[in-house]
Amino acid sequence: MTAAVTAAAPAATDQDYFGILKARGNEIESRHRRLTPRSAEAFARAANVFPGGYTRDAIMRGPYPAFVERASGVTMHDLDGRALTDFWFNATSLALGHAHPAVVSAIAAQLSKGTAYFAPTLHEVALAELLLERLPGATRIRFANSGSEAVMMAVRFARAFRANAHRSRSVIVKFEGSYHGSYDDVSWSVSPKVADAGAAEMPLPVAETAGLAGTEGRVAVLPFNDVDALRRYIEASHDEICALLIEPMANRIGLVVPDAAFLAEARALCDRYGIVLIFDEVISFRVGYRGVAGQVGLQPDLTCLGKIIGGGFAVGAVAGRDDILDLSSPQRSERVTHAGTFNANPITSIAGRATMAELTPAAFDQLAELGAYARRGLGDAVKGLPLQVTGAGSLFKVTATARPIHNYRDAATTDKRWEALCSLALLNEGFVMTPTLSGCCSLVTTRAHVDALLAAFRTVIAA
Ligand SMILES: Cc1ncc(COP(=O)(O)O)c(C=O)c1O
Repeated sequence: MTAAVTAAAPAATDQDYFGILKARGNEIESRHRRLTPRSAEAFARAANVFPGGYTRDAIMRGPYPAFVERASGVTMHDLDGRALTDFWFNATSLALGHAHPAVVSAIAAQLSKGTAYFAPTLHEVALAELLLERLPGATRIRFANSGSEAVMMAVRFARAFRANAHRSRSVIVKFEGSYHGSYDDVSWSVSPKVADAGAAEMPLPVAETAGLAGTEGRVAVLPFNDVDALRRYIEASHDEICALLIEPMANRIGLVVPDAAFLAEARALCDRYGIVLIFDEVISFRVGYRGVAGQVGLQPDLTCLGKIIGGGFAVGAVAGRDDILDLSSPQRSERVTHAGTFNANPITSIAGRATMAELTPAAFDQLAELGAYARRGLGDAVKGLPLQVTGAGSLFKVTATARPIHNYRDAATTDKRWEALCSLALLNEGFVMTPTLSGCCSLVTTRAHVDALLAAFRTVIAA
């Protein structure tokens, strides 16, 4: 197990190192402005209609993002005519790359037949069958339009399931540093200031956003990857808890897969106390043919999906045990309700199926091999520096801290300004990663693309 320890400030020498790039902050930002005058104009226009210029938080970056005009394969073309090599693929959701021919032709064939009906189609059944075949223990699935909705529905199912026998069991346990989308009950302690977040072993829930009602009877927050804290809390409070919500690969903590013992203990405690184990695999389903659950050999009771399963269209899904999902069956008198105008629409279902069909076990091997190649190359580049490289499967991340990352408190020691500037400098060189330096490969990515990124990264961190 990993001890959750209090965040320490980076060593002075590490700060000196980060200071070198940060001293060039103005120069990096000025270069971005010089390269992207049309994006600057577009951003000014967007600011007339969107608060601060943005209609979704995830794409925020200083001083303003590059606006994209079109994309194909690994390449996005921005308004200023630059060809950018994409290493984030709409937040990992485009496992085949942009505008993959198999997806484009499948949806083109459907477009003239209509895009959404107030009726089911065989397309949604086919996507459901394909996904359930990959999720051991899951025999039912419901579709939604986003990962956030999938999590929201999983929470509702878990509360309803436990409410049958134990009315008071309404608390969802989530982990500090985990992001599960924008639903209120999971918007606690996603990226809290450590000073506000209490003891590492028993964190205080900290609101991630204004506008939340409170955690009483709804949410508890535990340290990620801490078996002892998990066991202590569950043993003391199991009769209030309906579900454990876990990212089996924690994205915002640094694309970190928790210790096998942590996941195994979570499964065992859920079995012992009748708690619903929910795996949020919205991102991590791209780590392997059966997601991270398949890789670690554990079956959750519910799995939240999103991103890649929609083939580039808005999607979410919750899948799992039939005795839980069947709570939404119309035959039940007291049931879980779940509507959604665009749930399982034919375009998403067709694009999702075309994408997932390409993602064979061999394709996942190819993705994992390339991801490992990127992590090795980045790892070589950061040797001796207060930087580290994490990730799994096709995903990789550079983090600006020397402290090995097991939990949120470790991740909170990162120098975020350094990461954002490094990312912006890479964008200036034509490479797209997140402002926290997360990246991923898709099936169209080659070693040559990764080599080009590695060369740019070495140049940026050496300058
Ligand atoms: C683990 C995880 N869960 C849920 C979500 C929310 O998904 P969406 O953005 O589709 O609402 C995300 C989004 O990044 C995620 O990474």
